[in-house]
Amino acid sequence: MSEGADDDGGAGAAARSRGGSPRGDGFAPSALGTREHWDAVYERELQTFQEYGDTGEIWFGEESMTRLIRWMQKHKIPLDASVLDIGTGNGVFLIELAKFGFSNITGIDYSPSAIQLSGNIIEKEGLSNIKLKVEDFLNPSTKLSGFHICIDKGTFDAISLNPDNAIEKRKQYVKSLSRVLKVKGFFLITSCNWTKEELLNEFSEGFELFEELRTPRFSFGGRSGNSVAALVFQKTLLYSELFHPVSCKRDICCVFSTCQLGNQGLCSGLRLTTHTLWCTMPSQLACFLPQWC
Ligand SMILES: C[S@@+](CC[C@H](N)C(=O)[O-])C[C@H]1O[C@@H](n2cnc3c(N)ncnc32)[C@H](O)[C@@H]1O
Repeated sequence: MSEGADDDGGAGAAARSRGGSPRGDGFAPSALGTREHWDAVYERELQTFQEYGDTGEIWFGEESMTRLIRWMQKHKIPLDASVLDIGTGNGVFLIELAKFGFSNITGIDYSPSAIQLSGNIIEKEGLSNIKLKVEDFLNPSTKLSGFHICIDKGTFDAISLNPDNAIEKRKQYVKSLSRVLKVKGFFLITSCNWTKEELLNEFSEGFELFEELRTPRFSFGGRSGNSVAALVFQKTLLYSELFHPVSCKRDICCVFSTCQLGNQGLCSGLRLTTHTLWCTMPSQLACFLPQWC
């Protein structure tokens, strides 16, 4: 789907049917939210690629890829930063990243045909150091973790249209994202189903808005708006993570027993040397700690 285009084949078509939807989140369930749909799409695209060399659809158009890479350039994201493309589809964005010089990139998709298509296109481009995996992002393997940057172009949109309990699936998406992204890591999402405000709400727990990216505006019937929202979130620390022993490494720390030790040391916001699971306190948490001690 091209940006701003009125293409009824894309996820935007479902977005436009929100008004009549009986579902609580306002979306009408759609085949676009199912794995069967995407398997069929990429099987077809795989065949077309093999026959004609056509790489298939770039969701939100070329400009959406340029916008993301420009942002990474502007913020001097190191070329060896680990980047995950969630629901990579034909993998064309991975190719753009690699051509730009990014050297630690991974693409996942739950459709094996999408991963096969990505692999074939990447091979034809002569690129070798791109990692590809068949993974359901709603149930990611433990190996998928520690990313500096996660990208989503249209995947959260697709998941939102799942006919089977999409609300729960969206929550699971946010949990998976929290798991795979490093604290302070960036999440770049491009969506045509959700407005900026709605995305802020969806990702309110554990993420904060870092920047809104400019997208084309459209006007219709005397009103104007954006057909696509592109936001950059930064991962913060979840309140619940503070009490989770898994969080107790390097720059994050809090376990129940540290609170039992009282104010000394802990609430100075520095180091708690009397506990085996201590670490350095992140500065932004210091103000919350007295309540817990
Ligand atoms: C709208 S397409 C976007 C493809 C690609 N990101 C792009 O910009 O061209 C949505 C993609 O998300 C994938 N997808 C949907 N749900 C997924 C899930 N739970 N885990 C992994 N991939 C998923 C689909 O297979 C499809 O490739």
